[in-house]
Amino acid sequence: MEKKWWHDKVAYQIYPKSFYDSNGDGIGDLQGIISKLDYLKDLGVDILWISPIYPSPFADQGYDISDYYNIDPTFGTLEDMDELIREAGKRQMYILMDLVVNHCSDEHEWFEKACADPYGEYGNLFYIEDRKEGELPCNWRSYFGGPVWEPLPGHPDKQYMHVFHKKQPDLNWENPAVREEVYKNINWWLDKGLGGFRVDAIINIKKALPYKDYPSDRDDGLSDIALMLAEAQGIGEFLGEMQARTFGPHDAFSVGEVFNLKEGELPDFVGDKGYFSSIFDFSTTSFGKSDKGWYACKKPSPDDYKKCFFRSQEEMGDVGFYSNIIENHDEPRGVSYYIPEGEVCNASKKLLAAMYFLMRGLPFIYQGQEIGMENLGVVPLDQVDDISALDQYQVSLDAGLTPEEALKVISIYSRDNARTPVQWTSEKNAGFTEGTPWLMVNPNYTSINVEAQENDPDSVLAFYKKLIALRKNPDYKETLVYGTVIPYLEDQHNLMAYHRKGEKDLLVIGNFQKDPQTAVLPSTCKNLLLNNYQDLDMNEEKTAVHLKGYQAIVIEL
Ligand code: GLC
Ligand code: CA
Repeated sequence: MEKKWWHDKVAYQIYPKSFYDSNGDGIGDLQGIISKLDYLKDLGVDILWISPIYPSPFADQGYDISDYYNIDPTFGTLEDMDELIREAGKRQMYILMDLVVNHCSDEHEWFEKACADPYGEYGNLFYIEDRKEGELPCNWRSYFGGPVWEPLPGHPDKQYMHVFHKKQPDLNWENPAVREEVYKNINWWLDKGLGGFRVDAIINIKKALPYKDYPSDRDDGLSDIALMLAEAQGIGEFLGEMQARTFGPHDAFSVGEVFNLKEGELPDFVGDKGYFSSIFDFSTTSFGKSDKGWYACKKPSPDDYKKCFFRSQEEMGDVGFYSNIIENHDEPRGVSYYIPEGEVCNASKKLLAAMYFLMRGLPFIYQGQEIGMENLGVVPLDQVDDISALDQYQVSLDAGLTPEEALKVISIYSRDNARTPVQWTSEKNAGFTEGTPWLMVNPNYTSINVEAQENDPDSVLAFYKKLIALRKNPDYKETLVYGTVIPYLEDQHNLMAYHRKGEKDLLVIGNFQKDPQTAVLPSTCKNLLLNNYQDLDMNEEKTAVHLKGYQAIVIEL
């Protein structure tokens, strides 16, 4: 694997609406991000991915873009964006934007022009088909529920495709004009000094055509879109072209939101000549998902969790670099999801942090994760913002769950869990805004907040800083960045342990349960590099460690 400039970096995701509000309107903004750059620098992160900040009607929180060349006034101006790129640069930090080009907004001028003249040049930028009452071109179900087909505004005899929300019409990538527009836009931003992009929902750009039905998996007669994607061939032509025309020449960093990868495709996607610099490892978030809906999903146990990681690492080998996460703006808070109920505490939060962060790949921290922010818990339906959660509430009811049970289900998976405002202080609204926050603040902000943790050497925040410092420590960097991952004691229940072997031989060990357990070491421990407890119980020969509940350590052998 060729070495790249970004391999030894640490990345951080900002969900701008909820990061920090600088002007009291209750919504986070670019000046808010700029004012926290020193905080982020001090934490030790280098690459900042900012979820969409383009003009948008916010049907899907900005993932529905109505102008690719501007900034939504809610967040600021293009000048603010230039300032952010400049200020980040001064601190040797890189900014990534979100590239959302599977679809645009129905309020983008392309779609408005397509509606005005479906037969014209703009109509060809979308998937528009003739419409007959009671018949659909195919039975694909959109990700947010219902068929992917919607009548074209102003043309009852026509319909357009949207694999996400109906306000997110899919762009027709088969049309070279779409691709040219996308490349032009990417280069425009990269020329401004952007570090690169996180590439949204990209696997959906290639449809299996001509349209056909797939077996239905619910009473609605529709089929999961994954079935279509499994048959779609030839996405590589688009992605290879995009890489060669945009990211490649700029030496930009790109990380794909890639689900449904086909067998043997990893090298094409993230090898030395891959379409992307990296892709996210979603093996733990996808584990136990059901096409029936959230109500039928199953959480991974600690043993499932480690197996997911080990399998991904084995598949990746030295081909490329995964981007590793425990959460993002589409997932529940990692600590609430992966740690068994009732056992979420500082020790278990730190264990979860160490286990994923020290894997081979680029670690991403999602805003608030560094202070151990948790899920919201059950909230009344009228306070749910996430369109996906609202759809899944209905899916649960349709499957026979009571309203109470349905609320409980969505409380586990709702995307609102990760989207509540960052908890900066113990003051009103967690210090996020002087106004009324656009989404409720998690009531636990009085105990979980940045201010309280900044001066506490035992805090979750302090532990994240130690993890980042360890990964950047010149003595261990080569090993922690490039060293191979070798699972250790893989069959020991609720123990997650692996070597990172490079110039050095390091062993990461976590006792993923509340009861103590002993781990025998493969050789004597030379050096204890990290510990989420004050002390470590080791035998005299230094060949075994007796770990407390959720104790996690890193040792040098
Ligand atoms: C991605 C985004 C998600 C969005 C969807 C549609 O999955 O992460 O937030 O809803 O794409 O753009
Ligand atoms: Ca604001």
